[in-house]
Amino acid sequence: MHTTRIVEMLEVTEAAALAAGRWMGKGDKTAADQAAVEAMRTAFDRIDISGKIVIGEGERDEAPMLYIGETVGAGGEELDIAVDPLEGTNLTAYGQPNSLAVLAFGPKGTLLHAPDTYMWKIATGPDAADAIHIDASPTENVRNVARALKRNVEDIVVCILDRDRHKDMIAEVRAAGARIRLISDGDVFGAVATAIDGTGIHLYMGAGGAPEGVLAAAAMRCIGGAFMGRFEFRSPEERARAEAMKTCDLDGVLTMDCLVNTDEAAFIATGVTDGEMLRGVKYFGQGSRTHSIATDNKTGTIRFIETVHRTGSETFWVRRD
Ligand code: FBP
Repeated sequence: MHTTRIVEMLEVTEAAALAAGRWMGKGDKTAADQAAVEAMRTAFDRIDISGKIVIGEGERDEAPMLYIGETVGAGGEELDIAVDPLEGTNLTAYGQPNSLAVLAFGPKGTLLHAPDTYMWKIATGPDAADAIHIDASPTENVRNVARALKRNVEDIVVCILDRDRHKDMIAEVRAAGARIRLISDGDVFGAVATAIDGTGIHLYMGAGGAPEGVLAAAAMRCIGGAFMGRFEFRSPEERARAEAMKTCDLDGVLTMDCLVNTDEAAFIATGVTDGEMLRGVKYFGQGSRTHSIATDNKTGTIRFIETVHRTGSETFWVRRD
């Protein structure tokens, strides 16, 4: 039953990725995002759930589709749902790597309602899960991760968003001796990649969107990695919105238990553009191909799923990848 739900939800991120992928490189991030949102919203309606959007496209009064508080699905099991139909809108618009269609879900009342503010984040994979802390210095975190992974600091790659606010952090990581994978956008990828062998990323640090933080935390909860955060409010108004959402301690460490308070969470992402973790959408006339990750800590599974979507009645050869 639960596995069926995972596959149903997989179809939701696949639909969003298939719609957004058509906009790759067209320079229009709004159209790419809109296509993903509409496809995701429609796909939810095919599932027998009463899903409450806790992380979405904005607040109700802004009237977006998939607003925070909106109920999606055809009715049934009550769930909290966090979505980012297109994570990395610019990445898609300019054909850059690692844009994703993403969602996470868990039982009602288990996912943090995060306002659209910033969050300082740190994440690493299962082998170094006890080695990081949001309040430790970049140097300490890099050294501790290196020790936990039995590597030299020079062998560690830290993923950081390329932003002015990270200038000091970048300088300190360089001085500590670690290498850096600077990304222009897409820190859900940056955080989750630390837990996926072969991406070449061992540690993620920096400030990005708080909603993306909850999504990444759900993935790390399922995979067994570590994620910690701290809100960074840009205005009293943002803080007031967080207070109204009755989230965890607004000034304290955002622990995994506060971000994703369940052992029954699931995180699913489908690649829109090619990247180190997932391949992007491919279209080939009679169909298309998507590549996704579906992680679920109820069944303890981490699946990489390649799906061929046939659109015509013609037969064709399916290639093993
Ligand atoms: P969009 O998909 O909304 O364009 O966001 C991409 C993103 O890079 C996130 O991955 C990240 O958390 C956030 O934006 C960073 O925000 P900012 O661009 O304001 O630094």
